[in-house]
Amino acid sequence: MLIKDLENIFHEVLDAVYGKEEVSSFFFLCTDAFYNISRFELALNRDLAITKAEQQVVFDALEALKNEKPIQYILGETEFYGLPFKVNENTLIPRPETEELVQLIIDCHSERSDESPLSLLDIGTGSGCIAISLAKNIKNVQVYAMDVSAKAIEKAKENTVLNDAEVAFVEGSILEETQWNLLFEDLKFDIIVSNPPYVRNLEKTEIQNNVLNNEPHLALFVEDDNPLIFYRAITKFAREKLKENGQLFFEINEYLGQETKALVESLEFKSVEIIKDMFGKDRMLKAVFVKSKK
Ligand SMILES: C[S@@+](CC[C@H](N)C(=O)[O-])C[C@H]1O[C@@H](n2cnc3c(N)ncnc32)[C@H](O)[C@@H]1O
Repeated sequence: MLIKDLENIFHEVLDAVYGKEEVSSFFFLCTDAFYNISRFELALNRDLAITKAEQQVVFDALEALKNEKPIQYILGETEFYGLPFKVNENTLIPRPETEELVQLIIDCHSERSDESPLSLLDIGTGSGCIAISLAKNIKNVQVYAMDVSAKAIEKAKENTVLNDAEVAFVEGSILEETQWNLLFEDLKFDIIVSNPPYVRNLEKTEIQNNVLNNEPHLALFVEDDNPLIFYRAITKFAREKLKENGQLFFEINEYLGQETKALVESLEFKSVEIIKDMFGKDRMLKAVFVKSKK
């Protein structure tokens, strides 16, 4: 079968669901991943063909796309902060907003001398995208990453090897206060970062089906009556485990910026700032831990 005929089938089946441009992009991602044929090679040689045996994998992908499965789960990989990441149904697909959070942290440390070592903890690491990108881009940093999901940690470990990074993983729940000292003993951090679950059930109507039906709800949702549960636990944890002048970074729910800021301030953090994302939405929070002198 000629690849150009396959491309026409993709458009016939999927354009009504995704639009022509996105379907072209899916198609080229598939030919690259399954046949190692780039968009450029296809443009140069319109008569490239695949055998019958080679067709099945792409028809399976077409069927999955028809059922609105995210392309990242179909291919099992994505890109984040210019690095490759393996993903599956146990890991959230890393988002561009989170790349902005990573950039913010890197920018905050760009001026420091490489000689002073830093220690950093990423809470709710998922695919490991934040922890690994920071391990690769901040000098002399020791990175720890925690998640309650053993299956997510398994993927994150794979991604650590894939990216030739060094990250120490801890499995446990940040909501279990009695476990904090058992899990982290007397470790203290210069930086704690988290993109915790923050979507309220009431916001489900705004979420697209491909997210709702495929991505892990454990990574996304919180109860309507306690939407800041993770922010409260992580800020309290940070109060115990950050060094003096240590920094806390969060990705936040765009609708709950002021509430999140008030919560972090009420737990004795200083210089609490909300930072907007590229769409002008309240998306990140930065705060500094200064021990009160009582
Ligand atoms: C929004 S996802 C973020 C994943 C990844 N850091 C990212 O930015 O793409 C939240 C993560 O928190 C983890 N999580 C959920 N409940 C948790 C808990 N009680 N303790 C620790 N991690 C938890 C989920 O498994 C998920 O990986």
